[in-house]
Amino acid sequence: MTPRVALVTGGARGIGAAIAARLSADGWRVVVADRDPAPGPARAVAADVADEAAVSALLQGIEETEGRLDALVCNAGFMIRKPIAELSLAEWSSVLATNLTSTFLLVRAAERLLRAAGGAVVTIASTRAHMSEPHTESYAASKGGLLALTHALSLSLGPAIRVNCISPGWIDTRGEPLTPQDHAQHPAGRVGRPEDVAAVAAWLLGAESRFVTGAEFIIDGGMTRKMIYI
Ligand SMILES: NC(=O)c1ccc[n+]([C@@H]2O[C@H](COP(=O)([O-])OP(=O)(O)OC[C@H]3O[C@@H](n4cnc5c(N)ncnc54)[C@H](O)[C@@H]3O)[C@@H](O)[C@H]2O)c1
Repeated sequence: MTPRVALVTGGARGIGAAIAARLSADGWRVVVADRDPAPGPARAVAADVADEAAVSALLQGIEETEGRLDALVCNAGFMIRKPIAELSLAEWSSVLATNLTSTFLLVRAAERLLRAAGGAVVTIASTRAHMSEPHTESYAASKGGLLALTHALSLSLGPAIRVNCISPGWIDTRGEPLTPQDHAQHPAGRVGRPEDVAAVAAWLLGAESRFVTGAEFIIDGGMTRKMIYI
């Protein structure tokens, strides 16, 4: 049987790489699109997902090479942390383009293949869609928009295509030294790992979650449930 095919954006490192590795281990054929590709278990395509022509070419390449698409993981994203007085319009727009507009471009280009496969979409937002630190306006706005785009898409594309969102909290993607306090402040007792997000993504893309669409899954070790008064 032809294996199911998944496209993971921003899958060259971090959370996206963990999702690509998990899906590969589960028997999926995985295509990773990244503007800075790295070798891995997937077919790697160099693409900037904020670029309309690049996204069209990416999906055309999947149709020609893999011949089907069962899952789309919109994971590529980045943050600019700067006081709003210093944030240029070009910087604001670049964050919105990669973190939000890319999902519109990807879903629009992938809809036909996903419908044919009865597929699923997972978007990767952030707990910053709900809460903030100072100087993160463009990132917070992009992730709040992505959360709303996810539920809008679930209505427009269902029942053929399910669309869900994962909002990670603090996920250690770089193996930086972490203190005991970093871990202990989490109700779950530790900082998150990319594999924690990959496990939920794998479930959302599989048949066991077939009654789940338009939902947000907060994977943050409980941090957004914790009241803090100093
Ligand atoms: N790490 C966390 O704590 C955390 C928390 C909440 C949400 N997130 C979200 O999870 C996603 C992955 O984060 P991460 O920490 O693994 O990031 P990362 O920086 O480790 O990896 C992101 C990958 O996306 C790629 N990328 C960035 N812009 C791109 C573009 N325009 N086109 C194609 N590829 C692009 C990068 O080259 C990189 O390989 C992001 O959307 C991020 O906002 C991360």
